[in-house]
Amino acid sequence: MFASRLAWAADLVQAHFDLILAGLDDQPVSHAMGYALRGGKRLRGFLVLESAALYGLKPGQALAAAAAVEALHAYSLIHDDLPCMDDDDLRRGLPTVHVKWDDATAVLAGDALQSLAFELLCDPGLGGADRRIDLVASLAMAAGGRGMVLGQAQDIAAETAAHALTLAEITTLQANKTGALIRWSAEAGARLAGQDPAPLTRYATALGLAFQIADDILDVTGDAATAGKRVGKDADAGKATFVSLLGLDGARARAQALITEAEAALDTFGSSAETLRQAARFVVARDK
Ligand code: IPE
Ligand code: IPE
Ligand code: MG
Ligand code: MG
Ligand code: MG
Repeated sequence: MFASRLAWAADLVQAHFDLILAGLDDQPVSHAMGYALRGGKRLRGFLVLESAALYGLKPGQALAAAAAVEALHAYSLIHDDLPCMDDDDLRRGLPTVHVKWDDATAVLAGDALQSLAFELLCDPGLGGADRRIDLVASLAMAAGGRGMVLGQAQDIAAETAAHALTLAEITTLQANKTGALIRWSAEAGARLAGQDPAPLTRYATALGLAFQIADDILDVTGDAATAGKRVGKDADAGKATFVSLLGLDGARARAQALITEAEAALDTFGSSAETLRQAARFVVARDK
């Protein structure tokens, strides 16, 4: 059930992007945007659509928001891979944007995808003005200097920090870097329905943290052909991860505990949240 729902969400999001991309000028930056938007698991878009379904919304009432967070995520990946950041040459099984084009095109394609995310959230199909402002404001906070960008800055700073980060510091870093966007995605259904996202917050927070722990484990145990990106880089770069602090077994145990917590947090939703529970299990079992 989960696998087919994820594939269905991925197809819907890609079709939405194809429509938008068809309207862009024939320029390198447009091609780079389309290139960066392709592929990926689309977990964030799936979480938007699935949480929306939990609140009785139809896919068409949430699709632009699902595309928005995937556009923002694609921007974050382009910039994350730049030589001045993680300096990676492989993403989603293909050369990174700055390798295929150049640094300037990669920076600009990322910038444009970030703008596109907020343009998408202004889609009238998502609801009235109040609802759209809530979506725009909450994604801006999740993505910016109090969320993803802050986490990325903390991640880079940790590479050259004089002392290893504590568990509390790594947890904060990861909650910002990766957790903020995943949390926004899993809470989006409530916002789209004009409801308080609080009942989804515990699930969303545990899921986001478990997701980044799994990413850090994959960097040690995964292979590039399956993951579609280089592995074995975090330790060399001096990244502060749960694996660097707790070791592989400790990180696995922490991720598992978080998934148990995420599943339990959905109890109030009963069987209608079963696909979201499966998503939590997927997050730690995945090999890419
Ligand atoms: C990778 O995210 C970057 C992190 C936040 C760890 P994903 O693993 O969701 O990447 P795609 O979208 O599936 O390529
Ligand atoms: C990237 O984290 C998170 C964001 C893009 C915000 P990582 O640097 O661990 O992601 P990968 O491993 O390159 O996908
Ligand atoms: Mg990084
Ligand atoms: Mg990286
Ligand atoms: Mg990583």
